[in-house]
Amino acid sequence: MLDKVKHLLKEVEGVSPKSKKELESFRLKFLSKKGLLNDLFTAFKDVPNKSKKEVGQEINNLKQNVQAKIDEYKTSFNDEVFGEEIDLTKPVSSNNLGSRHPISIIRTQIVEIFNRIGFTISEGPEIEDDWHNFSALNTPKEHPARDMQDTFFIQTNPDILLRSHTSTVQVRYMNKNKLPIRTISPGRVYRNEAISSRSHCIFHQVEGLYIDENVSFSDLKQCLLYFAKEMFGEKTEIRLRPSYFPFTEPSAEVDVSCNICSGKGCNVCKNTGYLEILGCGMVDPAVLDNCDIDFKKYTGFAFGMGIERIAMLKYGVKDLRLFFENDVRFLKQFSAV
Ligand code: PHE
Repeated sequence: MLDKVKHLLKEVEGVSPKSKKELESFRLKFLSKKGLLNDLFTAFKDVPNKSKKEVGQEINNLKQNVQAKIDEYKTSFNDEVFGEEIDLTKPVSSNNLGSRHPISIIRTQIVEIFNRIGFTISEGPEIEDDWHNFSALNTPKEHPARDMQDTFFIQTNPDILLRSHTSTVQVRYMNKNKLPIRTISPGRVYRNEAISSRSHCIFHQVEGLYIDENVSFSDLKQCLLYFAKEMFGEKTEIRLRPSYFPFTEPSAEVDVSCNICSGKGCNVCKNTGYLEILGCGMVDPAVLDNCDIDFKKYTGFAFGMGIERIAMLKYGVKDLRLFFENDVRFLKQFSAV
């Protein structure tokens, strides 16, 4: 037995593996479960007591030398680093990048379009009071127009509510800033509406406000035509229909020519050739007065649009709920945008 171990010690000393493969078969030969060292330890039981000490020491030597050899050669082969094979010719595996949410994409596009003609961004709180959401905007208590926007009130304090539009930000902005004013207010709004493919209790808006001397309705029309062309393409036309909002007079609803059928009529535009995108009008002098602006000297226009609505038209999304469900199969489609 002793001779056998000594012979193996010599063998180990002379080993110089030339590749990772050779080193691995050397390791297996000695250290694997069915390897030589395990055999030796098993046979060790039958070694007579008097030579146990000497044989035991030699087996341990052998084990240590085998391990030392492996350690010595472990990093010698360039096809092996930290025990892993690395193929430097392999193409790099691409990282799985996330994508921006379509609402965020459209919000940025709208903001950039208005930035280019001098509108700055303003933001405000989502929990508001009655004054900023209604009263300052010419909609006092008991005014029937309050029903146009089904509002979430805080039960214990009906003066506090979740804003139903970002016109609230415009009121705050008029109070704090010097004229002229040219601002857009993007943000989340809340309405107590049943959730369906066309409406949700939470959605996003961008509202705009421009106040200066001699601002006229034609400025409003030109501004919105510019927006429509930038957003939906150079050939887009707009159509204004008379409407009503308590905070603007006159007021209008704005449609863009259907970008799917180019105005010829299809089932998206219900054969009208037009799609409604926003509400607008000239700021009511009572609103300017509420915000301490001299309504004899200054005039202005305001408009407001739902970001989900614009995103649905732009991307041909038929169900608004998709924007809130965050199904990756839906969101992934916007990764290239
Ligand atoms: N605040 C209105 C809404 O949320 C939109 C609007 C803004 C209309 C400004 C006219 C002028 O429905």
